[in-house]
Amino acid sequence: MSAMRMLITAGPTREPIDPVRYIGNRSSGKMGAALVRAALAAGQEVTAILGPVATPFPSAAQRIDVETAEQMLAAVLREFPKHDLLIMAAAVADYRPVAASAAKLARKGVRMLELESTADIVAAAGRIKRPDQRTVGFSLETTPDPQRVRDKLRQKKLDLIVYNAVETISSELIQPTLFFADGSEEKLPSRPKGEFADILIQRSAGLFD
Ligand code: C5P
Repeated sequence: MSAMRMLITAGPTREPIDPVRYIGNRSSGKMGAALVRAALAAGQEVTAILGPVATPFPSAAQRIDVETAEQMLAAVLREFPKHDLLIMAAAVADYRPVAASAAKLARKGVRMLELESTADIVAAAGRIKRPDQRTVGFSLETTPDPQRVRDKLRQKKLDLIVYNAVETISSELIQPTLFFADGSEEKLPSRPKGEFADILIQRSAGLFD
């Protein structure tokens, strides 16, 4: 079997407030790094689109560095048509300042920051998805709500979504449940992200059977 071309996004995005400040999140990129390693070990060709991460990534993957959600959207829309599968493990900022200030903002008592939603990247990829392509997403929730996860699966036109608890974001461990587009579910025991990455790469490849 020839290698599958896998596009994996990872890490946070940073949305500038001014030249030195940004809105970000706690994503470490560890899950994404584990997925890149697992995909390479399985003999697949990997492109990684990375937000600002300190986590080391294998050099055998083609690496594209981005900073903002808008840059990640542009990179995904450009790269996805050249790949069989997109795994969207990045923690994309949901909001960005309507206008970043060109000058460093001075401190003042109370400052209002006007925010607008960023584009939903994996949903945008879903809209250009060909019948021979698959998309996989993640869902991080504070309160377990399987219906909400299934709604996301459908709205974002995903083939598979990985649900995990919010504590997972900076942890070494993950205790996920997989929700598939055919309605099936798979609850997995807690394990290191590296071990889970091997399973997710197998399940993702299985989406083409
Ligand atoms: O809606 P929610 O943020 O929980 O969905 C999570 C999934 O959607 C993840 O796979 C994440 O990478 C993706 N996402 C995205 N673009 C956004 C927000 C989330 O692709 N702006």
